[in-house]
Amino acid sequence: MQTIEVHTKSRPSTVYCGAGAAEKLKTIIEGKDVFVVTDSNVFGLYKDFIQNTFGSAPVCVLPAGERHKNRNSLFMILDKMLQARLRRNSTLVAFGGGVVGDMGGLAASLYMRGIHAVQVPTTLLAQVDSSVGGKTAIDHRGVKNVIGTFYQPEYVVCDPMFLKTLPPREIRCGLGEIIKTGALDAEILDKLERNAERLFDLAFLEEITADCVRFKAGVVEKDECERSGLRKCLNMGHTTGHALELFYKRRSHGEYVLIGMLLESYIAEKFDICAHDYAEELRALIGKVLKRVPRFENIADAAGVALYDKKNQGENEVSLIVPAKRGEFAELRLTDEDYVGYIEEIAGGLA
Ligand code: NAD
Ligand code: GLY
Repeated sequence: MQTIEVHTKSRPSTVYCGAGAAEKLKTIIEGKDVFVVTDSNVFGLYKDFIQNTFGSAPVCVLPAGERHKNRNSLFMILDKMLQARLRRNSTLVAFGGGVVGDMGGLAASLYMRGIHAVQVPTTLLAQVDSSVGGKTAIDHRGVKNVIGTFYQPEYVVCDPMFLKTLPPREIRCGLGEIIKTGALDAEILDKLERNAERLFDLAFLEEITADCVRFKAGVVEKDECERSGLRKCLNMGHTTGHALELFYKRRSHGEYVLIGMLLESYIAEKFDICAHDYAEELRALIGKVLKRVPRFENIADAAGVALYDKKNQGENEVSLIVPAKRGEFAELRLTDEDYVGYIEEIAGGLA
């Protein structure tokens, strides 16, 4: 197990990463007034673990899935926190995937203007990305993550044992964010390419999870609240990914990130930001995880949703974070009209 410290200005976080990490939970919560947030699927699988670890702490079980990442679920958590008479020194434990983590984190940041938060990510995606760095959010009126806060958890506990119950599709989603990290960090990309045939192997995933957490910690330490522009790099592929996710709602976040990265890699090539060979290399890695690009109906309307992306600065402008060279990224700003045209053309060519 590795211990990774995230030295952020607002509040430092300690991430325990690897086999045995979950054993740290007993010490983390010792003597604390704990409140657990989870979802219905995770509760079904880990009810005994939750009871053994958190004893008689109240547990708020949310309906599972991105479509429930909304104000109803947020207020369900806040109501239950109030009923449980939590105080400022209470600790909220978000036990689940990225949806539970984002909403639990948001509730912890809002209740009494902020209580202690611990993240126990149970999906690969949440372990390699969403549980670290303090972004919290709900979706609202068709806009992804539009209501949220930056609120660092005190502890993050990433134990690979939780991945054993994850369906392969969810492993694929986590690999989406892992490949994104590879496109930002040359060493991680080398490792992914060397292990291209072991991407779904749990021992390999445990190792690469720690690499991704360490990389993300470095970015978040330098630009905690996405002010300098550096943290935007973590949104590679996400402008298109989020737009398709909100419009089609059929797949999961990680799958749409992979599709977003794939489509945007062609745009980066078109603008000579990314050389053809390197773009092909990234696409080959994406292809190991995403076997087929689905045929998208009304892709122009779907791409139009990108106009609401938080990275955009001007009116009618869409900002994309695209790969440049190995370990480097660039921000590309396009008019919405050009962006939609490119996505339509590229997706049409791949279908
Ligand atoms: P999720 O939380 O919906 O989990 C995916 C599915 O796996 C759900 O059905 C869940 O119930 C189930 N599940 C969770 N743990 C399980 C386990 N151990 N075994 C079996 N099933 C399990 O989705 P996700 O992919 O974990 O996270 C996606 C969310 O994360 C999106 O809302 C996205 O916006 C957000 N996100 C946030 C950040 C951030 O920095 N805060 C970064 C990336 C993504
Ligand atoms: N996943 C984007 C971020 O944490 O900034």
